[in-house]
Amino acid sequence: MEKLTVENANKLLITHMQNQNLRRHCYAVGKTLSAFYDLYKNQNREIGSLSKEQWETIGILHDADWEETKDVPEKHTVLTLEWFKEYDVPEEMVNVIKSHNNKMTHLREPETLLEWTLECVDELTGFIVAVTLVLPSKKLEDVKPESVLKKFKQKEFAKAVDRSQMEQCEEKIQVDINTLVETTLKAMQENHELLGL
Ligand SMILES: [Fe+2]
Ligand SMILES: [Fe+2]
Repeated sequence: MEKLTVENANKLLITHMQNQNLRRHCYAVGKTLSAFYDLYKNQNREIGSLSKEQWETIGILHDADWEETKDVPEKHTVLTLEWFKEYDVPEEMVNVIKSHNNKMTHLREPETLLEWTLECVDELTGFIVAVTLVLPSKKLEDVKPESVLKKFKQKEFAKAVDRSQMEQCEEKIQVDINTLVETTLKAMQENHELLGL
């Protein structure tokens, strides 16, 4: 069986997700997870046995079935797990997908550093897009970590974004909120072309 690489993840995404903004959310999370892989490695943290590329792959695929499951929330991730059966996927990667929609699927409580990192950055990438889009230039390069943090405290701004996911970073991944925002923003800025911003 073929391995689940970034390339195969992109193919799956393009097959199953037509909305360009949704795809970009998946790319943003992929690039962010790969930046956190580097951060943890520099800190000599226990990161498990997956490679940087596999962290990115999981980010790309965490919402890959969302367009096809959006009317049946408890199916989100279950469909992706079906697609995984066509590939040779290490259990650690399967587990991340199982944990991603656990509130609905009850498949697996997030546990590993990667699983919790995904939890903490998922909404944040969308929040950063919202901060970018209110700038006159609408460019990621003009976003400052301080303005993300400031908007984060304004409850009226991007109301739909659940802040509690990001707020658990200190407790769950031992990353302070400043580092969480800086690392995510930098990863997105470095990939602004892919993200169209
Ligand atoms: Fe999701
Ligand atoms: Fe997501």
